Amino acid sequence: NGNYEVTMIPGDGIGPEISQSVQRVFSAAKAPIEWETADVTPVLRNGRTVIPDEALHSVQKNTIALKGPLATPIGKGHVSMNLTLRRTFNLYANVRPCKSIVGYKTPYDNVNTVLIRENTEGEYSGIEHEVVDGVVQSIKLITKPASERCARFAFEYARSSGRNHVTAVHKANIMKLSDGLFLSACQELAQQYPDVKFDEILLDRACLQITQDPVNFNNTVMVMPNLYGDILSDMCAGLIGGLGLTPSGNIGRDASIFESVHGTAPDIAGQDKANPTALLLSAVMMLRHMRLNEYADKIENAVLSTIAEGKVLTGDLGGNSTNTAFTDAIISHL
Ligand code: IPM
Ligand code: MN
Repeated sequence: NGNYEVTMIPGDGIGPEISQSVQRVFSAAKAPIEWETADVTPVLRNGRTVIPDEALHSVQKNTIALKGPLATPIGKGHVSMNLTLRRTFNLYANVRPCKSIVGYKTPYDNVNTVLIRENTEGEYSGIEHEVVDGVVQSIKLITKPASERCARFAFEYARSSGRNHVTAVHKANIMKLSDGLFLSACQELAQQYPDVKFDEILLDRACLQITQDPVNFNNTVMVMPNLYGDILSDMCAGLIGGLGLTPSGNIGRDASIFESVHGTAPDIAGQDKANPTALLLSAVMMLRHMRLNEYADKIENAVLSTIAEGKVLTGDLGGNSTNTAFTDAIISHL
């Protein structure tokens, strides 16, 4: 029927409510998407946490997924399913744009950053052990191939987005070998993209400068190792109003998963209070990835104009409407 099949992983807590909003907006916009719902409750196999077969096959078959938040145990328990998904499908680059939203006032105007996070290794490798009682080691693994493919993605993104500038963010002054390797991969790639401007900045300095004046980063694509990207992307999100408003895309060669970065919000789950904006904007990113730009623009404009108008907003946006009413308002703006 000419529709594209996409895997929907609703997730935990508010996940099912915000996934439903996306599905309602998509069908009202007549986006040519058919959803296949998949559950990723962790399965333990041979002592390892894996994705249930059905979800695995669904993402393998469809190659595109949209995902709500999944609960991650802290300090103990199974490996985060968020990470398991990234690892299983080798989603090597995580794209996190942060753009100021008209109608949502923060101390900053005109923020428009894009951050590319290496998504498969670094401190997220999960290699940890206790050496003796009271002494532990966590290995930060950095490899040349993973650094290169992430850097290449950043340069390609810089070209295709018209930003034409890549900034490598690192701590190679301290992590001389690991960040040194990541940085030299970026430097080597820069040689292959003479049309793209390239520069480097220390992570701490980047944090300082972004909070002083984020506009300085509006024309570049920041690329960095995994953990730095995790932290810096939350900081950038904070500049525009938080994780309820920012999209994210995990890009791989054989599959890509688009997700909201916020948590499961168990305190408001099931109460029709959740804000679906981050998942909707992630779904918009997904549509652009699928080259369905017409639908992406239409849905993005409806979301942004609903917020800009400011009449029907969820609690976190300063209103008192339900998710259902907010979603209805978005639909009426299509
Ligand atoms: C994110 C999240 C995840 C991460 C958690 C939930 C495992 O914070 O996507 O940024 O640390 O990468
Ligand atoms: Mn994070």
